[in-house]
Amino acid sequence: MSAVTGETMPVGAVPVVQTSRLTKSFGAVHALADLDITVGEGVTGLVGANGAGKSTLIKILLGLLEPTSGAARVLGHDIATEGDRIRQLVGYMPEHDCLPPDVSASDFVVHMGRMSGLPATVARERAADVLRHVGLDEERYRQMGGYSTGMKQRAKLAQALVHDPRLVFLDEPTNGLDPAARVDMLQLVQRIGRDFGIAVLVTSHLLGELERVSDHVIVLDGGRLLRSSATADFLGHTGGLLVEVLGGDAARDQLGEALAQAGLHCRPRGPLVAIDPPPEALAAPGVAHDIVRDTTADLGLALVRIEPDQAHLEDVFLTGGHA
Ligand SMILES: Nc1ncnc2c1ncn2[C@@H]1O[C@H](COP(=O)(O)OP(=O)(O)O)[C@@H](O)[C@H]1O
Ligand SMILES: [Mg+2]
Repeated sequence: MSAVTGETMPVGAVPVVQTSRLTKSFGAVHALADLDITVGEGVTGLVGANGAGKSTLIKILLGLLEPTSGAARVLGHDIATEGDRIRQLVGYMPEHDCLPPDVSASDFVVHMGRMSGLPATVARERAADVLRHVGLDEERYRQMGGYSTGMKQRAKLAQALVHDPRLVFLDEPTNGLDPAARVDMLQLVQRIGRDFGIAVLVTSHLLGELERVSDHVIVLDGGRLLRSSATADFLGHTGGLLVEVLGGDAARDQLGEALAQAGLHCRPRGPLVAIDPPPEALAAPGVAHDIVRDTTADLGLALVRIEPDQAHLEDVFLTGGHA
């Protein structure tokens, strides 16, 4: 287990993924460097900027790439010697388009099921089920070359699920999607983990995107582990406050100026006043809260709410990983 993780694994439980000093170099480029991570059940978000090593890690775990050094186990099986067993237990949604344009999603997913060893009738039933779960209805009989990006992503997801895997690797499933389709895809990812009980390792280069659907988040930076924590630990309180008053921008700015005079650093955030964690003199519990309440009352403004300002995943990068 990594030194920077606070996670605990039930005694005796086999981790979904465990790597030990996993390293992959492409010439002078160190795509992964001495990576030690542990992935448990549920949905785990693997985040990091483009080039952080996310896809390389997944390909090594699947046996598509050989590591330069180090070791890894998937569901207790050694990637060096038990690749066939791992591929039976794992589904994979690759990052890039992998769909034949002149085949329907229905035929493709049936075919992928048969490739995984399912008998024809079972493959047809499973394909119909997973295509329904991912939300491809009548379109599933059309050739995939005519699909929108959202439909292609759904077909890619369906083929990863057809053989009823214990674990799926989803590499950038929201890539190329518009905001509404992105939300739909993230809900699907969450359902796979929560409702179907399949362990999920899902990647994104958008740092904040997975915080709502992941139980656990692993942050990679330049092939190294930046942080691995339960999502709740990432999203702790910053110590700041968010305040909303009635009266629009004018009231917001009036309150902001008065709070600044009272010694609180603050700035507008949309319609809200965002107050930084208070300076030491005002840091005792409840003090900043009381100042906000009294200042609002003195100004005759109607207070809608005062609430703790939540930290977000992006903040981890701003603070160097040890927020
Ligand atoms: N086949 C390859 N040949 C050379 N360099 C590669 C290859 N695959 C990945 N890399 C490099 O390894 C690093 C990690 O890439 P990748 O795993 O694709 O990152 P991510 O998926 O996080 O964007 C990048 O610097 C990338 O350019
Ligand atoms: Mg990638």
